[in-house]
Amino acid sequence: MSSVAIVTGASSGIGAATARRLAAEGFHVLAAARRTDRLAGLVKEIEAAGGTATAVACDVTSDESVAELAAAAQAAPGPVTLLVNNAGGARGLDPVESGAIGDWQWMYDVNVLGTLRVTQALLPALEASGAGTIVIVSSTAGFTVYEGGGGYAAAKHAQTAIAGTLRLELCGRPVRAIEIDPGMVRTDEFGLVRFGGDADKAAATYAGVPEPLVAEDVADCIAWCATRPHHVNVDRLVVRPLAQAAQHKVHRVGQ
Ligand SMILES: NC(=O)c1ccc[n+]([C@@H]2O[C@H](COP(=O)([O-])OP(=O)(O)OC[C@H]3O[C@@H](n4cnc5c(N)ncnc54)[C@H](OP(=O)(O)O)[C@@H]3O)[C@@H](O)[C@H]2O)c1
Repeated sequence: MSSVAIVTGASSGIGAATARRLAAEGFHVLAAARRTDRLAGLVKEIEAAGGTATAVACDVTSDESVAELAAAAQAAPGPVTLLVNNAGGARGLDPVESGAIGDWQWMYDVNVLGTLRVTQALLPALEASGAGTIVIVSSTAGFTVYEGGGGYAAAKHAQTAIAGTLRLELCGRPVRAIEIDPGMVRTDEFGLVRFGGDADKAAATYAGVPEPLVAEDVADCIAWCATRPHHVNVDRLVVRPLAQAAQHKVHRVGQ
């Protein structure tokens, strides 16, 4: 019987790559997101590669929708041992003095309260498995601020706080909490979402950067942490491209 892994935000980018990778590692993957057409394509891809997965429509900002995800986990063909809280993103790059309340609200709702809601709903199943793992995909913005990134950094700092607090609160119980903090990752949609669909602005983020991380690099980190023996808890894994020494220190060719 396969162990079951749940990946939120599996319809694109890091979440889709993580779903593919975990299926290749032998997990039955519950791929959750709002865009079910994307999830259906992903499940076909996973099955064609010899894995198994189920698409689950899920909006992490909705109690009812997350309750349905928990019900799908209950019905899944094996013990639920892994939850990857990946759904999230950024909106806007405005200074604090003019940032849109709606953008901050969205970032808090999806990244922070989404992680909280899904973790609360799946924790009983993870604990019942006797060997549960909760992964939270935060960011280097979870511990470093940058100009224009106030709202995103606030949300990611909050996710980092959830990961650290969970580790303390779950000590002595069979569930580990792992935080993954990627730096610059070139995914198809992250920048488009941040800049309201402006492809030029999205592309400028990566301009001249030799080899930003790609989604598969982060999936590799998540899979490595999640497949260590269960007594090994990687508290936090920070991963950046070689060209990015820090948030403010990025090597760009020809810029
Ligand atoms: N790209 C980077 O440079 C980078 C760096 C560090 C950390 N991260 C973090 O890594 C995670 C994934 O980023 P990415 O680059 O892969 O971005 P992405 O391609 O935009 O993926 C975001 C995912 O979140 C899902 N999502 C958004 N709102 C949702 C909601 N209300 N309910 C359920 N799912 C929702 C989206 O699916 P639907 O729209 O189909 O629901 C999508 O699958 C995010 O938490 C991001 O903050 C990214």
